Amino acid sequence: MSELAIRFAKANGARFVEELKALLRIPSVSTAPEHVDDVRKAAEFVAEGLRAAGLENVRLIETSTAERTGHPLVYADWLHLEGKPTVLLYGHYDVQPAEPLDEWKSPPFEPTERDGNIYARGAVDDKGQMWMHVKALESLMKNGGLPVNVRVIVEGEEEVGGEGIATFVREHGDQLKADAALVSDTEMFAPELPTLCVGLRGMIYTELEVKGAATDLHSGMYGGAAPNPFVALAQIIAKLKDEDGHISIPGFYDGIEVPTAEELAAWKTLPFNEEEYRSHEVGSTELTGESQYSVLERTWSRPTMDVHGMPGGFIGAGAKTVIPAKAMAKISFRLVPGMKPEATFAKYKAFVESIAPKGTQVNVRMIHSGEPIVVSTDNVYIRAAKAAMGEVFGKETVFVRGGGSIPIVGDFVRELGIPTVMMGFGLPDDNLHAPNEKFHLANFHRGIESIVRFLGKVGA
Ligand code: BES
Ligand code: MN
Ligand code: MN
Repeated sequence: MSELAIRFAKANGARFVEELKALLRIPSVSTAPEHVDDVRKAAEFVAEGLRAAGLENVRLIETSTAERTGHPLVYADWLHLEGKPTVLLYGHYDVQPAEPLDEWKSPPFEPTERDGNIYARGAVDDKGQMWMHVKALESLMKNGGLPVNVRVIVEGEEEVGGEGIATFVREHGDQLKADAALVSDTEMFAPELPTLCVGLRGMIYTELEVKGAATDLHSGMYGGAAPNPFVALAQIIAKLKDEDGHISIPGFYDGIEVPTAEELAAWKTLPFNEEEYRSHEVGSTELTGESQYSVLERTWSRPTMDVHGMPGGFIGAGAKTVIPAKAMAKISFRLVPGMKPEATFAKYKAFVESIAPKGTQVNVRMIHSGEPIVVSTDNVYIRAAKAAMGEVFGKETVFVRGGGSIPIVGDFVRELGIPTVMMGFGLPDDNLHAPNEKFHLANFHRGIESIVRFLGKVGA
């Protein structure tokens, strides 16, 4: 069955890529109110793909409530093999904003092939990887049928915290009842190296607002006597993290769990070249952060803080001499096992309030959050995934963690209580969230084959 499906996927590979391009042309930016209709179009496109693949009960599930406007979930299933396991396939069809647009070599929503890659916003994160799931299912359905039962859930709010799917899992978890989940939204450690991701960092994403004077002021008339909220913001931020990357919030590191000695030893055997990482991926003159930890520990198993932008004040061309009445910073923290989003937020808020410079009022607001997760590797699903990927790439599969967050994975493990396999096909230089995002097309095709083989092994 698998062999026929794999042959079908190869014969239809070019069509699969053309379909993916059509999906990539839809600018489903979940954070942008002006794109709500596009986000829905992408949801309908995915639903149509699942119908065409032969799945059943395909429908959009609305996530809007009186309090919030949400983007729809796409659901489908095929549950006809009594006694066989059920696999829940997860992906997301929403994307991050494409800005800054002038940094793109080809426009973000006009997918373009260059050197064996497809360039577009969402190419690898996560439309391309989600489409591999749909095409693996189609290849199996049209060649003897699925070897397991499946449910598919695709969300349109992953990039904005995934509140809709989290509520759905909490309230209607029974509708996603499965034995294991398969997620393709992570990366391979290196090109040609089959990789399973077994841990993700959690996060809290916040806005910190500082208010000073009652209104904007002439900086010549009042400068020297009136509080400046941007300066205050800079002072607060400088106190959150010291020069060695250590977070200064009291109690911030309390209770964090360290990786096992085996896991740390395994990370040391990964093909990692710090100098190459610095020059090729990061492109800075030096790496920063906690010097007593390796780069992999710093990005996978240590919490951190980042500032994403500081809206407010005068940012137009030219000069304006003003003391703004208020300033804002978008600040997030990545969390590791042992940390709780609410508790971390409370410590951060209390600390910021305690250090607010004279004459300013601070207001901290949480936009979204997600829990950290480390999954067990001791189950048949991980073993099947390891074998499937290993066969396709002709190499031993490695286990890594990811520094990013996929909030719903924690809920799959904790709420649904199912083992989760994170089988990703991105590459370290795929430019997720950045200009010139790409997906290596060979990995798109190998991803489909890996998923076909994985489902075959789970059903055997
Ligand atoms: N696919 C990524 C997460 C990821 C990337 C995990 C690389 C592991 C390796 C996901 O789409 C993402 O970007 N998530 C956001 C989550 C947030 C907005 C709640 C993130 O990590 O910033
Ligand atoms: Mn993603
Ligand atoms: Mn993302």
